[in-house]
Amino acid sequence: MGGKRKSVSHQREAPGASNGKVEKVTVARVARMKAKQTRITMLTAYDYTTARIVDGAGVDTILVGDSLGMVMLGYENTLPVTMDEMVHHTRAVTRAVKRAMVIADMPFMSYQASLPEALANAGRLIKEGRAEAIKLEGGAAVVDQVRAISAAGIPVMAHLGLTPQAIHQMSGYRVQGKSEDAAREMLAEALALEAAGAFSIVLECIPHTLARDITARLRIPTIGIGAGPDCDGQVLVLQDMLGLYQEIAPRHVKRYANLHEAATKAIGEFNEEVRSGAFPTMDQSFTMDAALAQRLHEEFVSE
Ligand code: KIV
Repeated sequence: MGGKRKSVSHQREAPGASNGKVEKVTVARVARMKAKQTRITMLTAYDYTTARIVDGAGVDTILVGDSLGMVMLGYENTLPVTMDEMVHHTRAVTRAVKRAMVIADMPFMSYQASLPEALANAGRLIKEGRAEAIKLEGGAAVVDQVRAISAAGIPVMAHLGLTPQAIHQMSGYRVQGKSEDAAREMLAEALALEAAGAFSIVLECIPHTLARDITARLRIPTIGIGAGPDCDGQVLVLQDMLGLYQEIAPRHVKRYANLHEAATKAIGEFNEEVRSGAFPTMDQSFTMDAALAQRLHEEFVSE
């Protein structure tokens, strides 16, 4: 299983542009960040406007997650998401992003059935979506896919722990890796995914001590969500952390804003102002030559 590595304390500096130019975040840069113990940030984005905001705010990596099925498309879970939907949203995000590395999720059943299908679908996210890497869920069952996709030149982010595409097999969204057997299996799977070529692994909803130890044993960076503070980076769903999607409130989410409330207030004001006639005013209106306007008015409505 390879040599044990010591736990390390992470630095707080943010990677920035040293010479005023935008330095694209790459696989090599993400690897250097782990080596230098600089924490990696990741947020989801699914459309042009929010991707501009996330990239402009300096987030290192952007995940076009299949969580878009729930927060953008209103599905009950991520299972119905299609390749066409992923490509569509990934294209919108990559049109916006200048600095962050864009990683696109492979949706349920786009990689499990066969290696040729997995390769073709990963290729679509790169060729059509213009993503720079793909993410897929699972451990031992997807090691061959990770090896084949990486060998084709496509960086692969793996995903262990709570893997939402296995919701039915897990009997719901539950913390994973709590028993000794499950913890040992997860470490073994993480090492196997690293050996197969994954450049990074998401660890979702596992005990923070297990995430700390897996992080210490891997050369590649771990990105945690509900996996405690000792991962090499952290990811949240944008709509969760901005308080836009409030249908579920998982314990691991920290809400940094309440945009649902702010948006509801703004929309309420719009409703009131339109109904009262306070909006629009002349400030939001356009003019034409006054004499022409008068002549047309007489002809159109005054006769
Ligand atoms: O789809 C998604 O947004 C994800 C993250 C929660 C890691 O997989």
